[in-house]
Amino acid sequence: MTAGSMIRRITETTSTNDDARRPEYRHGDIVWAERQTAGRGQRGHSWTSAEGENLTFSLVLEPRFLPVGEQFLLSEAVALALTDTFADFGIDTRIKWTNDIYVGDRKLVGILIEHSYTGPTLGRSVAGIGINVNQRVFDPALPNPVSMALAAGRTFDREEVLERFRTHCAARYALLERGDADTLQRDYRARMYRLGTPHPYRLPDGSLFTAAIEGVRPSGELLLRHADGTLRAYLFREVEFVID
Ligand code: BTN
Repeated sequence: MTAGSMIRRITETTSTNDDARRPEYRHGDIVWAERQTAGRGQRGHSWTSAEGENLTFSLVLEPRFLPVGEQFLLSEAVALALTDTFADFGIDTRIKWTNDIYVGDRKLVGILIEHSYTGPTLGRSVAGIGINVNQRVFDPALPNPVSMALAAGRTFDREEVLERFRTHCAARYALLERGDADTLQRDYRARMYRLGTPHPYRLPDGSLFTAAIEGVRPSGELLLRHADGTLRAYLFREVEFVID
C-alpha cells in the first residue's frame, strides 16, 4: 500500500483481525495466517478455510480523514480492489451487498471490516479478507462456496494474488483519499450482484418479498425497488438476501 508496508506471514492465530489491531502494525500492513483457530465472519458466524490452499489475511488501514458516517466508502474501496484483482486473473466477479464477492451465484470471498474510532472520523480499520484460492472440495454444510481454482480451472500462486490485491487496493484507497466518492459509488453499483434483477429478500421478522436492487447510498443503505413500484432504503441487518 505505502512504501515500507509489510506482509507478516504467520502459521497460526485466533483471527488475523485480532492481530492486526496490535500497535506494531501500521497503515498498509497485512497479517496473513495459514490457520485461524477462531476465524470470524459476518453476522456472528465463524470462518473456516482449508490450510495451505487459501488466503486468510487482514489489512490495516488508518483512514483518519474519513467521517464515521462514510465508512461504507472504505468497504466499497476494498470490495472493488478485490473485483479488480480477480479481473486480472480472468475471473468475472460481482459484489453482493454489503461486501461478499461472488462468481455467478457462488461466494468466492468473505470480508469482515472492523472499525475503531474515538472522534468523528475513523481511527484504525481492519479489513479481514478470506479468499478461496485453490480449495476444490468444501464442507457440504456451506451454502454456495466457490474458489478461484474452481472458477478458472487452474491453480493460482497465493503470493501473486495477494500482491495484485495490494496494488489495486492502493489505487482504490487513493480515490478515497482524494474524496472521489463518485467513482467508488459508480463502480460499486456497476458491479453489484443482482443489480436490477428481481430477487427474494427476507426481513428480520422472517417475512419475504421480491424486489430489485437499484443501487446503494454512500451511507451503505441498499436501495430496493419493490413490486408495487416504491423505492425503499435498507440498512445492513434490516434485510437479507435469500439464497436460492
Ligand atoms: C464473511 O463472509 O462472513 C466474512 C468472512 C471474513 C473472513 C476473514 S479471514 C481473515 C479475517 N480474519 C477473520 O477472523 N475473519 C476475516
